[in-house]
Amino acid sequence: MNRLFTEAGSADIVVERLAECGDPRFREVMESAIRHLHAFVKDVQPTVEEWARAIEFLTATGQMCDDRRQEWVLASDVLGVSMLVETLNNRAEDGSTEATVLGPFHVDGAPQLEFGSNICRDAKGMPCHVSGRVTDVDGVPLPGASVDIWQTNADGYYDVQQPEVQPEMNLRGRFLTDPDGRYAFRTIKPVSYPVPTDGPVGDILSRMGRHAWRPAHIHFIVSKPGYRRLVTHIFAHNDPYIDSDAVFGVKDSLLVEFREHDDDARAHDLGVASPFCTAEFDIRLTRQP
Ligand code: BEZ
Ligand code: FE
Repeated sequence: MNRLFTEAGSADIVVERLAECGDPRFREVMESAIRHLHAFVKDVQPTVEEWARAIEFLTATGQMCDDRRQEWVLASDVLGVSMLVETLNNRAEDGSTEATVLGPFHVDGAPQLEFGSNICRDAKGMPCHVSGRVTDVDGVPLPGASVDIWQTNADGYYDVQQPEVQPEMNLRGRFLTDPDGRYAFRTIKPVSYPVPTDGPVGDILSRMGRHAWRPAHIHFIVSKPGYRRLVTHIFAHNDPYIDSDAVFGVKDSLLVEFREHDDDARAHDLGVASPFCTAEFDIRLTRQP
């Protein structure tokens, strides 16, 4: 028989109603969610008005979502939950390159480009040459690996945030590593930019006294059949927000120097205008378990 509700037994009483749940994993997840939620409410002791405000926040967050905007992912990001899930699922104990958040601005179907091509289509920003090598964890080169790249323009916006302003597929491209596992592309020096703050997540960030900025970075997805797909970024090591990324994505191993040069001969060799910068980043993929 079901027990009637009491304050002291609240979580147990709700959990007991999972008795008929036929999916063991779902049952495990729901039991944990119920127990943590009841403990949270007992800890915080919200007033009825405060709980109503919490429901308003959840409602507004859902209403902000559509096929271009995912406010729930942003909520998970700024609370550090996306990074926790990423980290739990991609422990890089074998020396493989560390993962970080995907973020909401990846687009499938970026154009496949030749080795060394330029992904900047709006002619803004400082030219930058990025290169490196994709290997397995023992340093054996991986030819034919896919390196999918995206970043903001020099004003700090992704092309999909400014469809009327930026050329389609601006600062996006997919490259294949050469027979030595090398990749190279031309782009612009990345800039720091704020995550979107015009929704409920922006409101809670400012009420928490937090800024919305992400340190300058370039996104990578690196994949090859037989190896674990790597979702990561490289970060400008000296960015002012490197210790306070709004979504907690920074890892020491992902810091890179974007070295500035004023050298016409080298610029000519790399196919960029001077002054320009260069960055190198090697990637180690782990085998698919
Ligand atoms: C990004 O780096 O694109 C990003 C990640 C998390 C939230 C917003 C943007
Ligand atoms: Fe980003």
